[in-house]
Amino acid sequence: MSRRLGTVSVPAVGWGAMPISVPPRPSEADALAMVKLALDLGVELIDTADVYCRDDDDLGHNERLIARGLAAWGRGRSVLVATKGGLRRPGGAWVEDGRPEALRAACEASLRALGVEQIGLYQLHAPDPDVPFADQVGTLFDLQSAGKIAQVGLSNVSADQLREAVALGPIASVQNRMNPLDLGAVHDGVLAACEAAGVAFIAYSPVGGREERAELLGHPALLRAARELDVTAGTVALAWLLRLSPAIVVIPGASRPENLRANLAALELILPDGIGHSLDAAFGMIHDDAACV
Ligand SMILES: NC(=O)c1ccc[n+]([C@@H]2O[C@H](COP(=O)([O-])OP(=O)(O)OC[C@H]3O[C@@H](n4cnc5c(N)ncnc54)[C@H](OP(=O)(O)O)[C@@H]3O)[C@@H](O)[C@H]2O)c1
Repeated sequence: MSRRLGTVSVPAVGWGAMPISVPPRPSEADALAMVKLALDLGVELIDTADVYCRDDDDLGHNERLIARGLAAWGRGRSVLVATKGGLRRPGGAWVEDGRPEALRAACEASLRALGVEQIGLYQLHAPDPDVPFADQVGTLFDLQSAGKIAQVGLSNVSADQLREAVALGPIASVQNRMNPLDLGAVHDGVLAACEAAGVAFIAYSPVGGREERAELLGHPALLRAARELDVTAGTVALAWLLRLSPAIVVIPGASRPENLRANLAALELILPDGIGHSLDAAFGMIHDDAACV
């Protein structure tokens, strides 16, 4: 099952590499083993960010691990590495910094950390409320014109911000939170705006993230479907998200091999309509001809 992401086509399930770099994180050897496993299993989309690390002294940790893995095991493979800029990690906090000079410096640092001359997909991590949005997006388009990034993406944006950005230039993707317990992107119109603009919607925290994962994966409707299909609840959750829209790409995070394998299994799982409809009802999705509300 593949999806259009700007000018490229990728499998609908990528790997969110954040959990191998954000505390509590695995040993470096285990983290590198996860990069190798992802490549061995055929992952073609890896989501990262300069700030997937401990704090400002550790920026680029995740990007460097991916670069090492790709250099060691990924030669000849086409992998879209999607990174982000626009945040800082002072003292381990997450703080927006969308000043044009900060975005330019972050992009240069990501190029160095990834060891590439061009970044495949560069996403504004989150709009900085203290900087005009058009200046932040405009900086990314300038970086694209300079050849430093192939495609521009956004993250944590509203439908209005997406429309504003699309008027400025080609946007490949929007990365917002979405999982069966958090369908905010359906209700706030961002998913519909992506569909209308031909922009991929990259769902982050698709199995609930660290906060909602236990509640989601213990949900009776998911467990019932998982038993019936003989797969894990995580696999069902992802397959159900993919069923909602051909614009959706999921990037489940994993630092353990069994979770990565379960997540990639969603690529092969087409939910029977009966199960799909019962999950729609359980998670409050109502379809009509025009929209999902
Ligand atoms: N743009 C943004 O602002 C933003 C914010 C958050 C995340 N992200 C991106 O989105 C990716 C995914 O989000 P996320 O990591 O927050 O949340 P997630 O993918 O919903 O959940 C990840 C956590 O759940 C566990 N898990 C994953 N698959 C599982 C499965 N099939 N069964 C049971 N447990 C499973 C993993 O545990 P183990 O680690 O133990 O394997 C992992 O720590 C991140 O890696 C990052 O690339 C972006």
